[in-house]
Amino acid sequence: MTIATAASAAYIVAALLFILALAGLSRHETARSGNTFGVAGMALALVATIGLAVDGEIGVLNLALLAVAIVIGAAIGLHRAAKVEMTGMPELIALLHSFVGLAAVLVGWNGYLHVEADLSGSEALLLSAGDMLGIHSAEVFIGVFIGAVTFTGSIVAYLKLSAKIRSSPLTLPGKNLLNLGALAVFAVLTAWFVIDPQLWLLIVVTVLALALGWHLVASIGGGDMPVVVSMLNSYSGWAAAAAGFLLENDLLIVTGALVGSSGAYLSYIMCRAMNRSFLSVIAGGFGIEAGPAQDKEYGEHRETSAESVAELLTGADTVIITPGYGMAVAQAQYGVAELTRTLRDRGVNVRFGIHPVAGRLPGHMNVLLAEARVPYDIVLEMDEINDDFTGTSVVLVIGANDTVNPAATDDPTSPIAGMPVLKVWEADQVIVFKRSMASGYAGVQNPLFFRDNSAMLFGDAKDRVEDILNAVRQLSTV
Ligand code: TAP
Repeated sequence: MTIATAASAAYIVAALLFILALAGLSRHETARSGNTFGVAGMALALVATIGLAVDGEIGVLNLALLAVAIVIGAAIGLHRAAKVEMTGMPELIALLHSFVGLAAVLVGWNGYLHVEADLSGSEALLLSAGDMLGIHSAEVFIGVFIGAVTFTGSIVAYLKLSAKIRSSPLTLPGKNLLNLGALAVFAVLTAWFVIDPQLWLLIVVTVLALALGWHLVASIGGGDMPVVVSMLNSYSGWAAAAAGFLLENDLLIVTGALVGSSGAYLSYIMCRAMNRSFLSVIAGGFGIEAGPAQDKEYGEHRETSAESVAELLTGADTVIITPGYGMAVAQAQYGVAELTRTLRDRGVNVRFGIHPVAGRLPGHMNVLLAEARVPYDIVLEMDEINDDFTGTSVVLVIGANDTVNPAATDDPTSPIAGMPVLKVWEADQVIVFKRSMASGYAGVQNPLFFRDNSAMLFGDAKDRVEDILNAVRQLSTV
């Protein structure tokens, strides 16, 4: 068996492992094995690709360069993965997507320099003989376009998510026309490049796509950023698939298509969960007019203490905990898991209600709760639990804000109007854990805090949960 045949076989196995990884990652119980499948697939793909390179006699110097690139890449990857806080994952992912975009641009340019720029070269002659030159030019042009949009779009997403630039949407006059105009120009230039592949056309499309990527994501407001991250994930998949066509690498095409389609599907699910139009978000906020932030007077809020909450909890029949970004920041999940165990041991029915965009990345809360060993069967999605708040004795809102904001359902002028939220206010008592009266990610005031059945428990969520646990234990010993 030649190395090329072995590599093709390895690619098929790797592609299957990636499909198993996606299937595994879709459920809590199988997520760990899904991850293992993904790692195994990627390791196999790397070994096969290196084998192919060696078989292609790329020379000692190129081989050494390859080894250096792998070592540097692996070292940076390991360092970042070990250091990153869970709450910093979205910006890291956005940054990684920008690398995929940049790689696709470089592969496209490399393809141009080897073929279209050197029409008397062996590669170009081979392609011309099979009437494939036009297809190659289209691959170059489309790959560079998608890659460049992904590159700058991901950089803007990184800057917004890490609060290095303001997250409010940029609204240039005629922004939708600008986006549509850029797409129309791209279509015309693609046809032109296929007929007459000139360098200036490639330069123009690169600059156009870099500007479009920047503008698309800059036009999207902070509240829609989760969708943008998953949309860029999808774009990076298509950019990788485009690079796969150019490099004639089947695995890259399959993997790119998997990432592209699963990212698009995730964006669609998130848009549905946030009541946003999928098409308007992928078109850079097309038609989304964020209402002005309202500075309404909601009255006085009420404060409570850890001891009072402990008494309330021990006397409750049913408790629902709705965690949010603040639980992740405080790393309160272990205390929350311990409190859950303690209350369940005392016969209290404790469950969790998870909003699809709670925290800062899809599945953020599920991962934290799984890490703290909260049983999966008491962790319910918003749709599964939203009708159960009525009749629930106590709801603990731990570091959540936008995802439990009644203004989304009650106030059509609110910037988050229409976003489905956890209806925590329908419970008998609501305790909100946070450090101040500050607003959440979307920058919108939350009328929940001022309702008669709500009380604020101020302070770091981890400390307050510990205080409640101590108070509950003391109550048990009395
Ligand atoms: P947020 O609305 O972001 O509110 C989090 C709250 O946690 C804040 O009001 C903050 O109040 C509190 N907090 C922060 N640190 C805390 C600590 N150490 N102890 C106690 N409380 C603390 O949270 P959410 O309800 O989870 O909503 C998520 C938001 O992020 C949505 O707007 C969503 O669209 C957006 N988003 C989501 C994602 C994904 S995919 N999940 C990605 C990007 C953006 P204080 O400062 O007063 O403590």
